[in-house]
Amino acid sequence: MTTILLIGASRGIGFELASQFIADGWRVIATARSDEGLERLKALGAQTLRLDVANPASNSGLAWQLDGEKIDIAVYVAGAMDRNSASTPPTRDSFDAVMHTNVMGAMQVIPQIVPMVQETRGVIACISSIMGSQQETTSGNAALYRVSKAALNMVVRCTQAEQPDITVLAIHPGWVQTDMGGPTAPLTSEQSASSLRQTLSHVLEQRDPKHRGAFLNHDGSTLPW
Ligand SMILES: NC(=O)c1ccc[n+]([C@@H]2O[C@H](COP(=O)([O-])OP(=O)(O)OC[C@H]3O[C@@H](n4cnc5c(N)ncnc54)[C@H](OP(=O)(O)O)[C@@H]3O)[C@@H](O)[C@H]2O)c1
Repeated sequence: MTTILLIGASRGIGFELASQFIADGWRVIATARSDEGLERLKALGAQTLRLDVANPASNSGLAWQLDGEKIDIAVYVAGAMDRNSASTPPTRDSFDAVMHTNVMGAMQVIPQIVPMVQETRGVIACISSIMGSQQETTSGNAALYRVSKAALNMVVRCTQAEQPDITVLAIHPGWVQTDMGGPTAPLTSEQSASSLRQTLSHVLEQRDPKHRGAFLNHDGSTLPW
């Protein structure tokens, strides 16, 4: 059975990915940091693990919890937002909250799952954002979030450079109606997850070198770094 690991799936896009991959017959291992999140995922039929990606002690136990697994697709979904513009300096607390969740967590989690994805010559996808694209940036709003997603994109490129046998990519989910995206976003979480699911399944099936180290939109088209 094909296995997907979803890191940070208690709600929003991650939860909807869990729901859709289970409906599609995949085995889903999903992480959450709260009891409520773990219960919601269990009720869907996911195998669950507790993980707070902003906590190094929590991250350090992940490889042990996943011992012996073979993973086809791993998706780093967890993310935190800060809406201050570039003219408002971040506090240390807001910097730590966003950078620890969006960057440090990825840098601590991904090396632990690489060996399990190597077993299948599979895919590691980081949910990034077009707001992390240097080329597309014409506004300083949510500057810290933009900085964190640009850094996450570099995590993708560095990991791919060291792991040529698997596919490591960054993917933008669209602007999505979640707690983070707000109610006026054009895509529902169902629509975004459906598009992400099709693109990631296609990337896994193809194992095409062109997807290695790529920055993709949810529909599979390429985005500028
Ligand atoms: N929505 C959009 O329009 C949009 C656009 C571009 C990119 N994205 C990206 O898509 C991803 C999912 O966002 P979303 O819209 O679904 O946001 P969301 O509804 O706010 O969900 C955020 C998810 O991240 C988890 N998370 C946050 N901090 C965590 C931590 N320290 N440890 C473990 N999990 C943690 C949350 O878990 P808790 O329930 O425990 O807080 C929740 O499951 C994020 O990376 C986001 O940056 C979203």
